[in-house]
Amino acid sequence: MRTLIIYQSYHKMNTKKIAKVMAETMNADIVKVEDAKIGELAKYDLIGFGSGIYGSGFHKTIDTLIEKMPNMNKNVFLFFTTAYFGAKNLYAVKDKLSEKGCKIIGEFSCSGEYSPLGFNLNFKGKGAFIAGREKGHPDEKDMESARIFAKGLLNL
Ligand SMILES: Cc1cc2nc3c(=O)[nH]c(=O)nc-3n(C[C@H](O)[C@H](O)[C@H](O)COP(=O)(O)O)c2cc1C
Repeated sequence: MRTLIIYQSYHKMNTKKIAKVMAETMNADIVKVEDAKIGELAKYDLIGFGSGIYGSGFHKTIDTLIEKMPNMNKNVFLFFTTAYFGAKNLYAVKDKLSEKGCKIIGEFSCSGEYSPLGFNLNFKGKGAFIAGREKGHPDEKDMESARIFAKGLLNL
């Protein structure tokens, strides 16, 4: 099975860490969203789309890529890292994928460190918007969960 993993990650490179362990586990090709080539997607049996959660949803570069994709009957999976403010706009990327005839066969998420000002006091309340939270994530346990998820996809 040929698998491609496409990701967007810029804040702390949290999602990139998850993308890498999944790619290693699945022997998949891995590409940053800005380097993904629409013309090459057809040759893959399975495509994973990963992003940090920014403003409750996937990064807009992932949306834009999906919008440019032709209709394709593909199995896809989603993964994202989040600081627990919520990912309530996830339906946007899901709707776009279904519009392109893609079937979402799995979804993985874990915590991703958020430290907007370059330090992290690991705040749990509203102050986290300034003080940071989810320090140290994704950690080794998160990575192991990502490996287990990825292995599961190979066995479908
Ligand atoms: C501009 C910005 C907006 C964010 N918005 C959300 C959000 O709406 N919900 C949430 O759970 N986390 C939010 N976060 C936290 C990130 O989703 C989290 O830190 C993630 O792991 C970042 O991924 P990355 O390091 O791969 O970019 C936001 C982070 C940034 C920088």
